[in-house]
Amino acid sequence: MVPPSSSQFLLPRSSVRQVRAAQARGIARLFLYLFVCVCFSTACLSQALPRSEADGISDPALEARVNAILQKMTLEEKIGQLVQYSAGQPTGPGTGRSDYEDMIAKGQIGSLFNVIEPHQINMYQRIAMEKSRLHIPILFGLDVIHGFKTEFPIPLGLASTWDPAIVEKASRVAAMEAAADGIRWTFSPMVDIARDARWGRMAEGAGEDPYLGSAMAAAYVRGYQGARLDAPGSIASCAKHFVGYGAAEAGRDYNTTEISEHTLREFYLPPFHAAVEAGTASLMSAFNTLNGTPSSANPFTLRQVLRREWGFQGLVVSDWNAVGELIPHGLAIDGATAARKAFLAGVDMDMVSSLYHDHLQALVSSRQIPAAAVDEAVRHVLRVKLALGLFEHPFVDEAAAPKALYHPESIALSQTAAERSFVLLKNGSAGDGQPLLPLAKGTQNFALIGPLAEDSSYPDGARPGSGPRTTLLGALVQRAGQEHVTRYKGTGILEGSDQDLADAVAGARKSDIVILALGESPDMSGEAASRAHLGLPGRQQELLEAVVRTGKPVILILFSGRPLTVPWAFEHVPAVVAAWLPGMSGGPALVRTLFGDVNPSGKLVVSWPRSVGQEPLYYNAMNTGRPAETTDLTHAPGNIQDRYVSRYIDEQNSPQFPFGYGLSYTTFSYGPTKVSSDHLNATELNRDLGGNRHAVLSAEAQVSNTGSRAANEIVQLYVRIQGASTEQPVRALKGFQTVSLAPGESKEVKFDLPAESFAVWNDRNQFAAEPSKLTIWIAPDSAHGTPAQAQIVP
Ligand code: BGC
Repeated sequence: MVPPSSSQFLLPRSSVRQVRAAQARGIARLFLYLFVCVCFSTACLSQALPRSEADGISDPALEARVNAILQKMTLEEKIGQLVQYSAGQPTGPGTGRSDYEDMIAKGQIGSLFNVIEPHQINMYQRIAMEKSRLHIPILFGLDVIHGFKTEFPIPLGLASTWDPAIVEKASRVAAMEAAADGIRWTFSPMVDIARDARWGRMAEGAGEDPYLGSAMAAAYVRGYQGARLDAPGSIASCAKHFVGYGAAEAGRDYNTTEISEHTLREFYLPPFHAAVEAGTASLMSAFNTLNGTPSSANPFTLRQVLRREWGFQGLVVSDWNAVGELIPHGLAIDGATAARKAFLAGVDMDMVSSLYHDHLQALVSSRQIPAAAVDEAVRHVLRVKLALGLFEHPFVDEAAAPKALYHPESIALSQTAAERSFVLLKNGSAGDGQPLLPLAKGTQNFALIGPLAEDSSYPDGARPGSGPRTTLLGALVQRAGQEHVTRYKGTGILEGSDQDLADAVAGARKSDIVILALGESPDMSGEAASRAHLGLPGRQQELLEAVVRTGKPVILILFSGRPLTVPWAFEHVPAVVAAWLPGMSGGPALVRTLFGDVNPSGKLVVSWPRSVGQEPLYYNAMNTGRPAETTDLTHAPGNIQDRYVSRYIDEQNSPQFPFGYGLSYTTFSYGPTKVSSDHLNATELNRDLGGNRHAVLSAEAQVSNTGSRAANEIVQLYVRIQGASTEQPVRALKGFQTVSLAPGESKEVKFDLPAESFAVWNDRNQFAAEPSKLTIWIAPDSAHGTPAQAQIVP
């Protein structure tokens, strides 16, 4: 044992610990300070080096202007650029401040959000441009998440199209409408990986897969930002929430996350990286604690990964009051410390907490924050403002703003997107041996039952627009005729009366066919909408069972921001469609789908659980040392072999429907997967990982339309890597494409795979290809396909 030093005897043990801790903290702080100083001088030296051509913010020509403005700024004005408030309908608890006009005139605010009226935007902007000393324009932001006014399906639905092109077009429409309104910055896309349907924000993202999530992330950024940020109709995007927010323990929003570096690198970081590569102007730092350090004070993710490894030059804004929340997190015990920790970790702009406004000046004066670090953060803000052309065009044309909204092409796109987002989960027969959908010609009298067919909270996502909207009821009446449609409420979403239920059942009996519109209201998913139960809310299950008991053919349309556990429905209802929250054109899109004008092609981007106890549930899981692949999991274990495997004793391991699953009105068959070579060379692959995206292997399979309707099929390619230095998932998506097939038509579907398809985050903490065995499937979903084998040789 090491003898204690004499000084330690002078203090009680707890004080010794405190002193040591304080010393350690002091030393750590000094190191961090020096480290940040060094980084900032390096950053300043290297700032002329653009990261990539993709983002308008890395343009070296901007830097001269950035520097010229910086030189004129006082410290107070610099800090002002790092301060943001919500000046409209709040989306979180506020600071109580409202003296924004005065603050803008003093140069104390860099950005406002939640201001949506063009005249208000101009009012604030006029103060910045005319009254503030340096006339630096305000950057106005908003959560434009699935459309601004023209409303698209929620992002989970948009992702279910597996069509980055449609996502790009939808975001372009959103950008055009928002920009015309004066909003030049959206807090979108949310690119968090979501593996747990309890987490309400699953609705806002692209699901559980990093490859698909990356494709969608890039598509959103391209759509919002266009070819140039300063072009008309372009807005800055903000990839959020950096990082790991979707892994909230128990699916409870804002909860702690523990994510190993391996899992971060392979699953959670890639969509952010894709957004950065696509040129996103900004990122938002998340609420959650990540491995013990809140994401909004996390130098590993914000500085090491984002700035140093990825070379990001844009702006990092905190999430709503995330700087202030460092106090309840326990990372800071006062506002000054919270501001210092968030700032030094790499959060440039403080959303709403006001702590940068209150403390940064003193922190710089006391040298707890280097002045160069403030300059660097201000650079990030100015770059975005300059790239957007805000200095040249700070005001919005109030008369022109409404003309950008609800263009017929935009509404048509919202309908196409909705049609493509629906996932046909089941299409059985109602007794005649034929699939119930599409509806047979001459179908007569409909009973349209359920709280989501026309409710005033018709599923339009979080921000109801005011534009034209046709509900499911309206669209069905238009199609089938008023006299053939009878509407019954059945029950509300949460509350229901015996009388409404009985009326609906009686109505079902009188009809030829029942359409049941059940599920969640929009406010049951999204932020702060975690659920511990994933079944139908309120009395909807009771209604469902009573209606099905009438013996009438039933089509169930599920509206939700997540998969719902309704195993009874999947057993007893012939046809089930996941409609998500389909946006303003959801009604007509659904009716066209039910009547077969369009053939459903959406596929799941999240594994659909059988029961909530399976969550988090995701297809790209590790195999475990005791996989239950060959065990019959439909029964409780009857013997030792069946028991001591990774399983539940009361539920199957498999999802109700796997990731990638979705039916069509036609059927497809898949031939075996063939690969262009049975071996790859690790050294050559690693040489290519530096950025060469040429094909190192091609895989091909024949896909045939074996039914009688033309259809689009989303063909997926999965890889499994065994024998590398780290364990890899049982399957990982590495490609997808949509093919159109006429009835009876077959196509060879080919995927060209770059080296990165075979790289793993290895035991030396690097992405590399390693000698290993490869299994490659071309498949309709993550649970099927006939694989090919290959190897990576040393
Ligand atoms: C959410 C963010 C959103 C921000 C601004 C926060 O509560 O987590 O996603 O962008 O509010 O509205």
